[in-house]
Amino acid sequence: MELRQPVVVVLGHADSGKTSLLDKIRGTAVQAREVGGITQHIGASFFPIDTIKEVTGPLYDRLAKSETPIPGLLVIDTPGHEVFANLRMRGGSAADIAIVVADVNKGFEAQTIESIEILKKRRVPFVVALNKVDRVTGWRPFSRFISEEAKKQSADVQTMLDEKIYTVVGSLSRLGFPSEAFWRVKDFTKEIAIVPVSARTGVGIPELLAVLVGLTQQFMGKRLERHEGAARGLVLEINEEPGLGPSANIILLDGTLKQGDSIIVAKRDSAVQTRVKALLLPKPLDEMRDPRDKFKPVSEVTAAAGLKVTSPDLEGVLAGSPLYVFDKAKGEDELERLRSIVEGEIKNAIVSTETSGVILKCDTIGSLEAIIDLLKKESIPIRTADIGSITRRDIIEASAVRESDRYHGVVLGFNVKVLDDAEREAQDRSVKIFNERIIYNLVRSYVDWVTYQKE
Ligand code: GTP
Ligand code: MG
Ligand code: NA
Repeated sequence: MELRQPVVVVLGHADSGKTSLLDKIRGTAVQAREVGGITQHIGASFFPIDTIKEVTGPLYDRLAKSETPIPGLLVIDTPGHEVFANLRMRGGSAADIAIVVADVNKGFEAQTIESIEILKKRRVPFVVALNKVDRVTGWRPFSRFISEEAKKQSADVQTMLDEKIYTVVGSLSRLGFPSEAFWRVKDFTKEIAIVPVSARTGVGIPELLAVLVGLTQQFMGKRLERHEGAARGLVLEINEEPGLGPSANIILLDGTLKQGDSIIVAKRDSAVQTRVKALLLPKPLDEMRDPRDKFKPVSEVTAAAGLKVTSPDLEGVLAGSPLYVFDKAKGEDELERLRSIVEGEIKNAIVSTETSGVILKCDTIGSLEAIIDLLKKESIPIRTADIGSITRRDIIEASAVRESDRYHGVVLGFNVKVLDDAEREAQDRSVKIFNERIIYNLVRSYVDWVTYQKE
């Protein structure tokens, strides 16, 4: 039995140190080159098992050893800034396992909680990296192993670290997860392991990786077995590549993708079939968003991997779309089957009713699903929910709802454009549009508006 690379997503609040942590392991400095030090795209890089063994040293045998080792980890970096909820969602839905990064001095913040809720919903196991221990007042560096370094701190500093860990244990418990500092965890399947680390000094990174690899190798074997079946992946984003035309950054989750393969992906109104022109792979330990070396053109790629695909008909393909390889030998029935799976995923996300409720427009499949969930939690009825700009038709529909239902005759938009004629129509009919780039603000500002109207 051979295992594929587990897909590890790194999630957490803005500036908790996600990119810095990965940089420390890769030995690169992606973070320093980012505009404003903010991650704005999903990145992926491959960490070979030999690199992991080097970093973990003697801990590998103690925490991670296995009869069937993984070939490495495919690590996905995500933005922590609140506007990028859709990217966190996409990362979360591709992951086998996750690292949630939190700042030790700040504890759990808004997007830490949002991240854990995404993982909970998708049933993705995770470990918590409690980053920036070097910033705990009075902390002194001694070692690259946190269990050694923690014991050598003064009594006061040790107490302070313990208090910070217990604050996080409390936050996790409120989210429904039992947890412990990893050195006190008895059963890694029952308790979330908390690993104090520093992306600055590197302390704790060996333990973090050993716990992570241990979890995947000991408890995820079945899920990670390589499949003979059709290749499958996820579209992260569509870019215009100079000289190449439209290209897709994708994560290949299963199987092998070859040059010339016929792939099925989703556009707004239907699934499309297109041919893979080129496959471009970042080097091991390189970051897909900001590679040090040029991407290498390859003739095939085996899962799991982050890569760029070019193809003639990618324009309009939805970020968050599933991707399937169509094996022509299997004939038209197979093509129909894959088309209906792909179209099913869009249709499942879209809501279209004749009932009374709000009109929702979002930028991606992931954000649409998330906001529908949030609205349901708040018991806010939905008339229609779709992907795309806010149009005149949306305003007319909201206006019709408002005749019988004052508070629900509104349009909610997340990260979308309001078309000019929609804007005019909204003014003529006095239809309220809520268009936000922050997922929680959207629901909150609508709810506040209703409360205010009722007073
Ligand atoms: P977003 O991608 O914007 O969500 O941020 P991020 O979570 O990737 O954090 P990033 O790596 O950009 O780090 C934010 C800031 O914290 C940078 O100035 C880092 O240098 C600093 N930083 C990260 N990790 C550590 C750490 O362990 N110790 C100290 N002292 N500073 C750190
Ligand atoms: Mg970052
Ligand atoms: Na940052």
